[in-house]
Amino acid sequence: MSIGANRTILCVIGTRPEAIKMAPVILSLRKKSFQVRVLATAQHRSLLDQVLDLFGIEPDIDLNIMKPNQSLASLTARLLLNVEEVLVSEKPDAVLVQGDTTTVMTVALACFYQHISVGHIEAGLRTWDIDNPFPEEANRVITGKLARWHFAPTEESRRNLLRDGIPDKNIFITGNTVIDTLLSLADQDLTLPINIDSNKRLVLITAHRRENFGEPLRSICQAIKTLSQNNPSVEFLYPIHPNPNVTETVNELLANRKNVHLCAPLDYTHFVATMKRSFLILTDSGGIQEEAPALGKPVLVLRNETERPEAIAQGVAKLVGHDYDRILSETQPLLDDESVYFAMKKGISPYGDGHAAERITKVLEEQLC
Ligand code: UD1
Ligand code: UDP
Repeated sequence: MSIGANRTILCVIGTRPEAIKMAPVILSLRKKSFQVRVLATAQHRSLLDQVLDLFGIEPDIDLNIMKPNQSLASLTARLLLNVEEVLVSEKPDAVLVQGDTTTVMTVALACFYQHISVGHIEAGLRTWDIDNPFPEEANRVITGKLARWHFAPTEESRRNLLRDGIPDKNIFITGNTVIDTLLSLADQDLTLPINIDSNKRLVLITAHRRENFGEPLRSICQAIKTLSQNNPSVEFLYPIHPNPNVTETVNELLANRKNVHLCAPLDYTHFVATMKRSFLILTDSGGIQEEAPALGKPVLVLRNETERPEAIAQGVAKLVGHDYDRILSETQPLLDDESVYFAMKKGISPYGDGHAAERITKVLEEQLC
C-alpha cells in the first residue's frame, strides 16, 4: 500500500482565492493516494463554483453557507456549528485550510475543539496591525495559534511565525500555491473576456477589502475616474466583486464612462488572460499582489499596509493606499515615463516557483505516515 493511502485528509475551501490556492494541493495529494475529502463551506457561492468547475473538483460536502451581505458574526456562528457536524461524521486524520478568511479561522477552531490536526497553507503572513487587513490579520493569528503544520510561502513568513512563538520544526517553507495554479494556466492561449483595442494600454483594477468600504473605496473610484479622464487613450477595466458594499459604490462612481469598463467577476482563466494583457494593475487583493509580479506586471497596492512585503522590497509592487492624490501621483508617472515603468516591470516571482503543492504533499507524507 502506498504512503498515505489509509490517511484521510479533509481539504476545506470557502472563498474564490481559497479554491484557486487549494486546487493544486488537492490534485497533488490525490496523486499520492491519500484519501482526500473536499469540504466546501461555500462562504462564497458563484465565485467558488467558477473555480471548482475549472479544476474539476467536486466537493464531497457542501455547506452552502453564504447569505447575501453576510455579517462576520453570523457567518462565523453558522460555520462553527456546521463544520463541527462535518468533523464529527468525517473523522479526518488531518484538515487543511488555506489563507485567512472566516472559513479558515472557524475551521481551525472547530478542529481544535475536536482534537484534529490542522495544516495551515499560506501561514505566517502578518502586518502586525490587528485592524489591517480586517478581519484577516486576526483570522491568521488565531489560525496560527491552533495549527500543527505551518506551510509558509516565504522566509519572511517563517520569521513571522517564529516571532509568534511557533516552533521552527513545525514550519515548512513551500512557496505559495497560487503560483502553481497561475503557471499551470499562464502559458496557454487564453481568450480575453472583453474587446479592447489591441493598440491601447489596459489598466486592471480590483478592490474589495472590508477596511476599504465607504470613504476609502469612494476615494479609489474618484481617482480612477480622474485617471480615465486625463488618459483618454488608456482603457480601464474593473471586474467588480459581488459584495454589495463594493458593487454599489463602484457602479455609482464609475458607470457610463467611455474608457472605464465595469464587469462582473471574471472566471479565473479570463482573469489570468486579462492580467497578462494589462499594462498595470491597481488592487487591494492579496492574491493579485502575488500573481502580478510573476507575470511581470507592475502592481500598485490600494492599501495602507500589506502582509506581502516581498514584492515591495523587490521594487515590483508599491503600497499606495487609498488617498486620491497619492493614487494619481503614483499612477500617472507609470503611464508617462518608460523608465519609471520598466523599473517596476522585472518579471520576478517572490512568492513561488510553481512547486508549492508538491512540497506540502511531501511534508504530509512524512508527518502522516
Ligand atoms: C471574503 C474574505 C476575504 C477575501 C475575499 C475574497 C472574510 C471575512 N473575507 O471577503 O478575506 O479576500 O472573500 O474574495 O472571510 N457574494 C456573492 N457571491 C459570491 C461571493 C460573495 O454574492 O460568490 C456577496 C454576498 O452578498 C456575500 C458578500 O459578497 O454575503 C460577502 O462575502 P464574504 O465572503 O463574507 O466577504 P468577502 O468580501 O467576499
Ligand atoms: N480573480 C479572478 N477573477 C476576478 C478577480 C480576481 O479569478 O474577477 C482571482 C485572482 O487572480 C486571484 C484571486 O481571484 O487569484 C484573488 O481573489 P480576491 O482578490 O477576491 O481575494 P484575496 O486574494 O484578496 O483574498
